[in-house]
Amino acid sequence: MKLQSRLPNVGTTIFTTMSALAAQHGAVNLGQGFPDFGCDPTLLDAVNAAMRAGHNQYPPMAGVPALRDAVAAKIEALYGRRYDAGSEITITAGATQAIFTALLAIVHSGDEVIVLEPCYDSYAPNIELCGGVVVRVPLTPNSFRPDFAKISAALSPRTRAIIINTPHNPSATVWTAAETQALADLLAGTDVLVISDEVYEHMVFDGQPHQSVARWPELAARSFIVSSFGKTYHVTGWKIAYVAAPVALMTEFRKVHQFNVFSVNTPMQHGLTAYMQDAKPYLELPGFYQRKRDLFRAGLADSKLKLLPSEGTYFQCVDYGAVSDMGDAAFCEWLTSEVGVAAIPLSAFYAGASSQTIIRFCFAKEEATLQRSLGLLQRL
Ligand SMILES: Cc1ncc(COP(=O)(O)O)c(C=O)c1O
Repeated sequence: MKLQSRLPNVGTTIFTTMSALAAQHGAVNLGQGFPDFGCDPTLLDAVNAAMRAGHNQYPPMAGVPALRDAVAAKIEALYGRRYDAGSEITITAGATQAIFTALLAIVHSGDEVIVLEPCYDSYAPNIELCGGVVVRVPLTPNSFRPDFAKISAALSPRTRAIIINTPHNPSATVWTAAETQALADLLAGTDVLVISDEVYEHMVFDGQPHQSVARWPELAARSFIVSSFGKTYHVTGWKIAYVAAPVALMTEFRKVHQFNVFSVNTPMQHGLTAYMQDAKPYLELPGFYQRKRDLFRAGLADSKLKLLPSEGTYFQCVDYGAVSDMGDAAFCEWLTSEVGVAAIPLSAFYAGASSQTIIRFCFAKEEATLQRSLGLLQRL
């Protein structure tokens, strides 16, 4: 039987390849983005207690009501917009599912969806699976700031949506209020929807605020906002996230969600509900990751790797141009197998070839792991 692939150009991702190479060479894995430390035992106890209390059957399709209440209260407290927990918040099986479901809910065959490159690797295949057309707009080279003239030029009568991501993976940039306002101005008078990927919302450094589109009424009215408990609470393997959107958008979202995932595991939702009553864990997250960022940057300050800004997320990009003129994928393979530190080449976040000499490290690691990697990178 000959099966025609829906995604003929998709193969094994660089994240899988680099993690396998890191394991093979016993390298320090600063490639794939996940913590190498555990989550708060209080959260584990809360989930455990939920299981023992019998919360083990299907929850409501949109998520446990008390968790949606907690999410709505958090968004209102932090960003000043009230979402109705009953009709405007849905718990999802991770942010990746949330983004795909939002796209399935809104993209018709031939609709264009703008992505800002470099970007998270699921966006483009998701758009293609919806029958949509991916319109790639580059972020400004080197600074990775959004280029509104280019975004404006990419808008067409077929534009259905734009996906934005702040704090940004992989560049670690964070949108400013002026940039968010510029997006609001650009989309005013259009029917373009926004999928705002805010999974790193609680990892913004140097006292800066996270510019959630929830702060901009005119953007919030056209946006699906996606955040991830996995990132915020150091439990990426739980694959649990949420979406906030105005009722008209959320109604369409849930139509897809109920026939795709239907509902997300119950005890985790109850555990997260209990844990969310304390705001401290997410309010203290910027400081927690800023200390790791500062340690990692200080360790590389005198190395041959040129540090790019890291304003948010748990990523640090560096330019290795002073070390090698290899392509970034070849350099990452060499760095893993010969130096003993795994990283991700920035080209992994572009559709076409990229001539940049930039790679991404993940610093969501124990101090000992970071020190071990620094000892190796300082020798370059
Ligand atoms: C920008 C971005 N969006 C979405 C995700 C996916 O999050 P989740 O694990 O909740 O699906 C990631 C994970 O790396 C990410 O970096």
